[in-house]
Amino acid sequence: MNRRRVVILVSGRGSNMTALIEAARAPDFPAQIVGVIANVPDAGALEKAAAAGLATAVVDHRTYKEAGRQAFDRALDGEIRVMRADLVVLAGFMRLLTPWFVDTWRDRLINIHPSLLPSYKGLHTHERALADGVKLAGCTVHFVRADMDDGPMIGQVAVPVLSSDTPDSLAARVLAAEWRLYPAALAAVASGRARVTRDPEGRERVVFDPAEPPVDPLIWLG
Ligand code: GRF
Repeated sequence: MNRRRVVILVSGRGSNMTALIEAARAPDFPAQIVGVIANVPDAGALEKAAAAGLATAVVDHRTYKEAGRQAFDRALDGEIRVMRADLVVLAGFMRLLTPWFVDTWRDRLINIHPSLLPSYKGLHTHERALADGVKLAGCTVHFVRADMDDGPMIGQVAVPVLSSDTPDSLAARVLAAEWRLYPAALAAVASGRARVTRDPEGRERVVFDPAEPPVDPLIWLG
């Protein structure tokens, strides 16, 4: 099997990264994680990645204040190419990427967001969902486009919101769903089963071929 080479971009603790590394240990997983890059030198994810035997790199965005966002993105792109990536996966990567970077990696760049998009783009999703009194929350994996948390959706998982929830308890429930969704979505993209097409109205849509029933009834990829 020709396993697609994946580089993961992180900014924080890296629990989604860990879920992806563990899933990719299965010999039939269609992707291999080849490296992890952080934009902050002290991201906890870096130690975990190194402990898993992966190549790591840091492109510190603070050193690009003068040079600007595109210079940062070009440096990031350079490190990704050193690792010879086929696909780039954002896992808690807290920088908005420039249109240049997003176009360079178009349809080879995916993100996870802790809400049922298109609701609650941006930060503080769980606080906002609780303030609105919604009954379902969840997470979404999508191909990245230039606007924040925007792009054709690959899969979603919904979780219940309990009346006793705090932002932290809801975040924990959603995070556990993220760990299940992200490996499944990456496998669908890496195997070529999920790809972006346009519907008759010209809107981008992710289609699955073959369209198999979901592995887990709570993960909707289809
Ligand atoms: C996750 O909730 C992810 O959806 C969001 O940032 C968080 C990252 O958590 N984009 P982790 O670093 O993967 O633990």
